Amino acid sequence: MSKRVLIATEKPFAAAARDQIVAILKEAGYEVALLEKYEGQGPLVEAIRAADAVIIRSDIIDREVLEATTGLHLVVRAGAGYDNVDTAVAKERGVAVMNTPGQNANAVAELVLAMMVYLARNQFDGKPGTELRGKTLGVHAFGAVGRAVTTIAQGFGMRVLAFDPFVGKDIVEATGAEFVPSVEALYEQSRYVSLHIPATPETKGSIGKDRLLRMPKGATLVNTARREIIHEAELLEVFAEREDFRYASDIAPSDATLAALRERFASRVYVTPVKMGAQTSEANVNAGLAAARQIVAFFENGERRFVVNP
Ligand code: 3PG
Repeated sequence: MSKRVLIATEKPFAAAARDQIVAILKEAGYEVALLEKYEGQGPLVEAIRAADAVIIRSDIIDREVLEATTGLHLVVRAGAGYDNVDTAVAKERGVAVMNTPGQNANAVAELVLAMMVYLARNQFDGKPGTELRGKTLGVHAFGAVGRAVTTIAQGFGMRVLAFDPFVGKDIVEATGAEFVPSVEALYEQSRYVSLHIPATPETKGSIGKDRLLRMPKGATLVNTARREIIHEAELLEVFAEREDFRYASDIAPSDATLAALRERFASRVYVTPVKMGAQTSEANVNAGLAAARQIVAFFENGERRFVVNP
């Protein structure tokens, strides 16, 4: 029997990307089912029952969803972060989970710089703003997105510092960025900080007063990573204590925090209406096609590269 692949995207891929994903899977002889713009977990639980593999974006693959499956072998997160998948339960059930690292990095990096310009120009309110040239940017975690941000920021004439406990000095310096040995030093020296850490038990709530109050005058924090890494109560305290502090985020905080930020500090905050970092046709094509090819390679050749729950 041919393999059945579900594409489950609550936030759909661009049509051109989706069509090419479907074509790759059909070419391999697979059946393809599409579940787009669905609401709640019910439709996903239903649609995934018969699937051998599923392609997702930020869609939630939790215990309930996994327990509904009967022959699922593979989940591919078309993107970088896989905190939306319960990888431990997947492993228990013999389901491999993969991501497609780097495929949407440029799209996210362009958004980082766009939001920095937007805040530096006072949200285009007509008053003189500031330029990025000559300012220091701290890149917090030096994966594919952090590196893409570095390249673009250098084009703006920024000095780039990077901190990542898992990446060596030589790798950072090869990009022309400066290696910073501690997270404290990164925040102390950077007028701009761009976050690229994953949401893990260690990082959740880790971006709070201790780090943000260290930043120099005119501080701007940019979050295109994950909501959970921010200590939201302390973020509000930082805004109250520092009149110069600004925040741009591609991930909405909790409703209460967002309301407080918009009511009290609107001129210093920007939050995208929906998560936009990976929302370009190019990123959808890159990540989506990589996901489709990884599925074919997994079933046809046993290829397990990019498995994150070995
Ligand atoms: C990622 O981890 O790749 C990004 O957060 C993109 O998420 P999205 O596919 O939901 O836009």
